[in-house]
Amino acid sequence: MSGRALKKVRIGVLASGRGSNLQAIIDAIEAGRLDARIVLVLSNKKDAAVLERARKHGLADVFLDPKPFAGQPDAREAYDRAVLDVLRKQDVELVLLAGYMKIVTPVLVKAYENRMMNIHPSLLPSFPGLDAQKKALEHGGKLSGCTVHFVTEGVDEGPIILQAAVPIVEGDTAETLAARILVEEHKIYPKAVQLYAEGRLNVSGRVVHVSGAS
Ligand code: GRF
Repeated sequence: MSGRALKKVRIGVLASGRGSNLQAIIDAIEAGRLDARIVLVLSNKKDAAVLERARKHGLADVFLDPKPFAGQPDAREAYDRAVLDVLRKQDVELVLLAGYMKIVTPVLVKAYENRMMNIHPSLLPSFPGLDAQKKALEHGGKLSGCTVHFVTEGVDEGPIILQAAVPIVEGDTAETLAARILVEEHKIYPKAVQLYAEGRLNVSGRVVHVSGAS
């Protein structure tokens, strides 16, 4: 038993906001649907609700203030070196970005190649970046959704792991659409992590093959 426990994927979550995706991961672990362990939750925002959620569940929470790095010529990289230090100290194997409002630099991307995931509220490659739900509505799309992908240097560009589609309905606002997409986010993020934990994700170029998929 203890041997199995030792093999659990050690997850580090980077987040800046309310943390509903963190909650979905926690719930999946607690329900036994996800064979992983969250070893730390790190935020660049001191008062982020996500840190409070982490504490509530007895998880290590880390606020890493970007301010002291701001004056440096390579501020973003320097910050990410500090993040990397925290992740490595806790022996984090898989990094999950969950509403992390900071662009990750090659410092982190290279260190966690094919071991860092992000969740985005659109069917990528449509509508990367901020305000994805608003952009989908303004574009007149009929179908939106969410995507879990590996993180590469381009924003929201990495190999796609899982997606879920969500219809856009007459009268939708960015908020109503976002709320329906979020329901699907909470399903596919834990699923993608479980696929990783089972060793079933094989990246070839920009295509992720899921082994054993029906
Ligand atoms: C989600 O919509 C996610 O797709 C995006 O940021 C939001 C985070 O929400 N990347 P939460 O903090 O997990 O509730």
